[in-house]
Amino acid sequence: MSNAGRPPFVVRATDISEIEGHYPAPFDAEKLSFGRDLGRAAGSRSLGCWQERLPRGRRTSFTHAHLREEELIYVLAGTPTLRWRPPGGEAEEVPLEPGDLVAFPAGTGIAHTFRNDADMDAILLCIGERRLGDGSLYPDDPAWQAWRDEHRPQYRWPNDDRPSVAAEWPAWRIETDRLVLRPWEQADVPDLLALQRENQEHLAPTMPWARTLPTLDELLGTVRSFLRSFLEADDLVYGIFLPDGTPIGGTGLHPRIGPDGLEIGYWISKRHEGLGLVTEAAGALTRLALEVHRKQVVEIHCDPRNTRSAAIPARLGYTHVGTLPGRTRDALGRPRETMIWSLLSADLLDSPAHHTSVMARDALGRRLI
Ligand SMILES: CC(C)(COP(=O)(O)OP(=O)(O)OC[C@H]1O[C@@H](n2cnc3c(N)ncnc32)[C@H](O)[C@@H]1OP(=O)(O)O)[C@@H](O)C(=O)NCCC(=O)NCCS
Repeated sequence: MSNAGRPPFVVRATDISEIEGHYPAPFDAEKLSFGRDLGRAAGSRSLGCWQERLPRGRRTSFTHAHLREEELIYVLAGTPTLRWRPPGGEAEEVPLEPGDLVAFPAGTGIAHTFRNDADMDAILLCIGERRLGDGSLYPDDPAWQAWRDEHRPQYRWPNDDRPSVAAEWPAWRIETDRLVLRPWEQADVPDLLALQRENQEHLAPTMPWARTLPTLDELLGTVRSFLRSFLEADDLVYGIFLPDGTPIGGTGLHPRIGPDGLEIGYWISKRHEGLGLVTEAAGALTRLALEVHRKQVVEIHCDPRNTRSAAIPARLGYTHVGTLPGRTRDALGRPRETMIWSLLSADLLDSPAHHTSVMARDALGRRLI
């Protein structure tokens, strides 16, 4: 069947010419696979999709890991071998066969390549994200890594052993043991609205904004204003996500208590209460505000009747410095008391907050902490 009359986003692999992969000199002796760029032919933008044919004795690439691009490899034919190496560890090999799928989420540092030792060609379908600011790591091939770092410094993998002096506030991605915190993106808006809708009853008593749910467009406007504020390193509103990308709540570092301090706010879905996740997120933000951003003080404010909320600063070693009468209004508009919990930078080292495990990166992926 010919492709005539079909829309341009439908393509057939056999209509797309094979290109033999190659590295530049002096690495051009490396024998690579023959690839068909199906994704580009079909007009894919944010995902690449290649059909790779590996004759005997060839591999798909030097063993590599991506900083920001996730990859999926599906074996269509043949019996290729996966070679993989964990960060700082020894390489291992896994024999594969048709039907096997291999996933490499971005940023794990697990380097990989596919080799064919069999007579029959191996055919792989390789799908990978296309992301700006990707970096690559080549633990098996230091000469190639050095060449890349010199000739393509924009793809350099950040030195993850320690924070970078070049890293700039604010943190655009924060990882704790069980969570990822990052600014809400415009594409998150439908999921965020669904989360707010599902939790309206749970949130409305304490979060005035939850009493009336926004429309999708209104929430988009709100997320855009969060992003503008983020770009100015001003009010930092973060979504709380599970490592698989599921949004479960929100938190933030807010410049509401004068130039020397930041205030932390938070909420979490009913389903994820009681697991210590908010304590973990607030502990991470506390460390960032005091250790990285060098503020003198971090505060958490809450209604004394909100005992779950007040338990979080208490658990992190904050001090209850006072309760202000009637300055704030509750969700029903009635005046209410506000408890002020505070942690000074001088007290951080002795606080449980200091034991929160946290890794944070700036907008360019450089480590802040
Ligand atoms: C306030 C709110 C964020 C508190 O959430 P939370 O789930 O109680 O807080 P955490 O995620 O830190 O979990 C703490 C609970 O997990 C338990 N827990 C389990 N594992 C834990 C761990 N590794 N570390 C700490 N606590 C752990 C704690 O014992 C505690 O349980 P308990 O309340 O039964 O004693 C949540 O109730 C909420 O979103 N409420 C609505 C919005 C709101 O009020 N926001 C605050 C406005 S000031």
